Amino acid sequence: MTTAATRRDEKGTLTLGGVSLAGLTEVDGVGTPTYVYDLDGIAANAKALEAAFEDGPHLVAYAVKANSVGPIIRALGAQGCGADVVSGAELVLAQRCGIAAEKIIYSGVAKTDAEIDLALGAGEKGIRAINVESVEVIVRVAARAKALGRVARITMRINPGVEEDVIDTHRHITTGHDDAKFGIPLSTLKDAIAAASAAAEHIRVVGVAAHAGSQLTAMESYLASARKVFDTAKSMRSHFQLELVDTGGGFGIDYGTGCPVAPADFIRAVRAAQRDAGIADLALFCEPGRALVGAQGVLLSRVIQVKVAPERRWLMIDAGMNDLMRPALYQAFHRIVPVTMPAGATPTAMRVVGPVCESSDDFGVHELPTQPFEDVAILDAGAYGFSMASRYNGRAVPAEMFLAGGKVSEIRARKPSTDWVDDRV
Ligand code: LLP
Repeated sequence: MTTAATRRDEKGTLTLGGVSLAGLTEVDGVGTPTYVYDLDGIAANAKALEAAFEDGPHLVAYAVKANSVGPIIRALGAQGCGADVVSGAELVLAQRCGIAAEKIIYSGVAKTDAEIDLALGAGEKGIRAINVESVEVIVRVAARAKALGRVARITMRINPGVEEDVIDTHRHITTGHDDAKFGIPLSTLKDAIAAASAAAEHIRVVGVAAHAGSQLTAMESYLASARKVFDTAKSMRSHFQLELVDTGGGFGIDYGTGCPVAPADFIRAVRAAQRDAGIADLALFCEPGRALVGAQGVLLSRVIQVKVAPERRWLMIDAGMNDLMRPALYQAFHRIVPVTMPAGATPTAMRVVGPVCESSDDFGVHELPTQPFEDVAILDAGAYGFSMASRYNGRAVPAEMFLAGGKVSEIRARKPSTDWVDDRV
C-alpha cells in the first residue's frame, strides 16, 4: 500500500521522488523523526493546477500555513504561485522566499495593527489584497492606510453560509458556515460596502473571497461557496472596480479512503460557474495548501519497541503527537507502513503510538508485519505536519529533508532538546 507519491522498489523498499527512504536519515543531525518532502512532486502538483486555468487571468496563492518552509515556498514560487499568508511572520517569510508583494494575499480574522502595517508597507503598493473579514476591520485598515499614506487594496471575504452538514469534512476545519468566526456574514455585507465606500480615499475594494473548509473531497460545497462569491462580486461591481474573485483553498487529498476530485477538477468547475455568472473577465484566485504538498511528504520514524498486551499489540515509535498533531486533533488517519518490508511479512493489527504522555498520542490501528522492522513512514504528512509541530514534553521538533532530481537537495537538521532545556530553565 502506497500513496500517489510513494512507491516500493523491487527490493521492497519505500521510495519518494525516486529516492529510497531506507537509511536516508542516517546522516549527522538528522536521525528520526524526520519529515521528507519531494520538491519535484510538489512542483508537478502546482503545474497541473496552473494548467487548469488555461489562459484565464488567475493566481494560485499557496496557503503557507500548510507547510511554511523555504524550499517548498520557493519551489512553488518557481511555478508561478503566490502566497496566502495568515500572519505578519508568514508575510515576511513569503517575501524572503522571493514571492513578490503583488502575489501575496493576507487572510485572517484578527490582524494586529503591526501586521496590517506590514501588509500595507510591502513592495511599492503593498500586497495584492488584504482579505477583510468584518466591517470593523475595514475601519481599522483604512485608519492604518491613512496613517502610512497608502491605499489599501482589500478583498471582502464573505461567509458563504454553506450549511455545516453540506461541507464534507471534519467540523474543526469547516469555515464557511453561519456559525464560524470567519468572513463577513452576507447579512452585513451592505454595512461593509458602506464602510469601504466611506473610506474610499484609503481603501480600494478589489475583490470578493471565501473559503468553505479544508479537505473537501466532493465538488458540491466548494461550488456552492464559489457561486456565492460570484453572485456577490456581480452585485458589487456597481460600487467598486473589482479585479478578482477568490474561491479559497480546501481541495482534498486521498488519505486512504479516496478523493475522486483533483484540484484541477475543482478549478475547471469553478471557471465554468464564473463564466455562467458573466464575470469571466475577473482574475480567479484560489488558496490551496494541502493539495499542493500533503501527499509529497512523509514522516519517517524509528520503532522503539513492541508491547504485547492480552487484547492488543502496540507498536511504539519515536514520532508523537507533537510531531504530527492531526490524528490527536482531528482523529485524522495517516497510513503507516514499514520503510523496508521484512521478508515473508505476515500482517497483524497493531496500534501505533508515540512517546508523548497523552492517550491521544495515538496514530490508530494499522496492519503491520509481525516480523521486526526498523523504520516506519507515516504517509501523506506534507501538509499541516511540521507547521503544527510543538515542543510538548520537551521534545525536539523533527528534522527535514528535501528531495529534488532524485537526490537529497537540502537538509534542515534537528535542533537538539538541550536548547529547549536551556530556554526553559
Ligand atoms: N485559505 C484559508 C482562508 C484557509 O483558512 C485555509 C485553511 C486555506 C486557504 C488552505 O486550505 P487547504 O487548501 O490546505 O485545505 N490543520 C488542519 C487544516 C486547517 C486548515 C485551515 N485553513 C488539518 O490538518 O487538516
